[in-house]
Amino acid sequence: IFQQISQAPADPILGLTEAFKKDPRQEKVNLGVGVYKDESGLTPVLKSVKLAEAKLLDTETSKTYLGIDGVQLYNKVVQELLFGADSKIVKEGLAVTAQAPGGTGSLRIAAEFVVNNTNSKTIWVSKPTWANHQNIFAAAGLSIKEYGYYDAANQSLNFEAMVADLQQATTGDLVLLHGCCHNPSGIDLSAAQWTQIAQLCFAKQLVPLFDFAYQGFGDGVEEDALGLRTVAAVVPELLVANSFSKNFGLYNERIGAVTLVAQDAATAQKAFSQVKRTIRANYSNPPAHGGLIVSTVLTDPELKALWLEEVTTMRQRIAEMRQLFVDTLKAEGVEKDFSFICQQKGMFSFSGLNKAQVERLRDEFAIYIVGSGRISVAGMTKTNIPVICKAIAKVL
Ligand code: LMR
Repeated sequence: IFQQISQAPADPILGLTEAFKKDPRQEKVNLGVGVYKDESGLTPVLKSVKLAEAKLLDTETSKTYLGIDGVQLYNKVVQELLFGADSKIVKEGLAVTAQAPGGTGSLRIAAEFVVNNTNSKTIWVSKPTWANHQNIFAAAGLSIKEYGYYDAANQSLNFEAMVADLQQATTGDLVLLHGCCHNPSGIDLSAAQWTQIAQLCFAKQLVPLFDFAYQGFGDGVEEDALGLRTVAAVVPELLVANSFSKNFGLYNERIGAVTLVAQDAATAQKAFSQVKRTIRANYSNPPAHGGLIVSTVLTDPELKALWLEEVTTMRQRIAEMRQLFVDTLKAEGVEKDFSFICQQKGMFSFSGLNKAQVERLRDEFAIYIVGSGRISVAGMTKTNIPVICKAIAKVL
């Protein structure tokens, strides 16, 4: 049965990391995958995480199964982080949350739950979007449509196209929205635009599915929830898939959550029984460690304060690298204006480099970026920026 199977194409992001690891060149730089690096080029375990892990090692008494929905305290703190502890949604029990393995696992559970339990079979995603979105949603059985988002000529948001395309959506369609730090463009909606999208979703009875993987990497942990909270205040139903890979540096712990908001608590609970059924059919119940780390940090005032400081450090370092990158390109004599990179938010920048230029960067200079021209600014350091900028100046 296996002989007829054809070779799958390499994953556009993780496939690059595999190729990067095999590359024997000493001076190679990986700006493909979205992984934060500190100034020395390392991806450290956060101090708040280490302290929480020490605490857990001391106090953990059993490795028995978690419930299908994971660590209860974790699910509570996730809701507070998403909507605010004093929000109506949290206070009135309108949200239900299940711990899930990373952003990808959370998105997959959300999509499968919708396909199997509702009449909604279509999801609208931004053009462009994270390379794995289409993969996940197609695998779950959703059909995918695109709404305009990025204006390549002006390196900006094409909000008119976004609105015009979403006007074509039909009742019950899902709309994938990036909570903040849009991946791959780094361009987010303004507060006024979020309000407009919230009203559009309400008027057309569309169901937002937020992919919220970078909370804290845009303007701040609270600030970055503005879009989600604006929409949640207007629409009666929505879903959120959030991740702590980036803002807790817990990439390999696979820790995220799927959250469903319904009109009333009873509906939320009924729907949740089906979310749990979806989880049971996939992986039964989640691994504990990541959920325990996050709940330990977020319920300990000192650890939480330390974590907030660490998120601020990461956010500020990325912003600094954006500026240095733009300045160094200029110093290298690049004529094209790259100042738009300083306006973008989060780990990524859409550089505007084309496929041929991306290939030359890899083949001639051992610099790996995603084929779409997406660069992980979070992988830049003061040491590698001069090398990267010299190479970009040559391929342009
Ligand atoms: C990325 O976009 O690079 C990250 O979200 C990692 C991944 O899984 O693709």
